[in-house]
Amino acid sequence: MKTGDLMAPVIAIDGPTASGKGTVATAVARELGWHMLDSGALYRLAAWTVLDQNIDANDLSAVAMAARRMDIRFEEQAIYLANQDVTRLIRQEHVGNLASRIASAAVLREALLERQRAFCQPPGLVADGRDMGTVVFPHAALKVFLVADVQARAARRAQQLRQRGQAVDESAVLADLKERDARDTDRVAAPLKPAPDAHQLDSSRLTVDETVAAVLVMWRRQQRHA
Ligand code: DC
Repeated sequence: MKTGDLMAPVIAIDGPTASGKGTVATAVARELGWHMLDSGALYRLAAWTVLDQNIDANDLSAVAMAARRMDIRFEEQAIYLANQDVTRLIRQEHVGNLASRIASAAVLREALLERQRAFCQPPGLVADGRDMGTVVFPHAALKVFLVADVQARAARRAQQLRQRGQAVDESAVLADLKERDARDTDRVAAPLKPAPDAHQLDSSRLTVDETVAAVLVMWRRQQRHA
């Protein structure tokens, strides 16, 4: 299936780690009554599978094969892998770091491509990730590249971790974000970068509600000019 054949409109929201994409994409999807794809969760699920099944993370064809076989179920707020609730497990920092490492493999990205495109169902899809507007949904009706300066993102990530009851070393969180940004941006396969037709939105000094409102304004404006 080519993305050009997809019948439902897509809003692609890409951006670096902890830019708030997930929260914003979820709220936009809820507001429009659309489906939601958290593509990072698929990479995290692949990383979790690598750890759980003791797969050599350097054996990329084995990683990709395991990813193709994943039995995933997304429910309202929960994610199940082979009927196990892994919602919290895949949010752990070491899982995110491994996800970022294996995500540089073209063979894994290819293995996850159709699974992501299958989320595009009427009435529409809000897709959040790194390459939604560039690779997975290049014909998306609206592409937003959500950025925030690294200090703001580190503060948000630290707060998230504290809310989960985890001890937080803010300088480690900052260093980790910078490392992950570099890895996601510098990789050859589907690097993190705005699509030429993406609208850049800086949320450093915006609340979540203001950021969601800004995306909805872009969508309505785009509808008027469609
Ligand atoms: O959005 P996230 O932090 O949950 O994603 C985890 C990792 O997965 C991220 O560091 C890079 C990778 N990823 C990707 O390469 N492409 C995507 N579309 C989404 C995530």
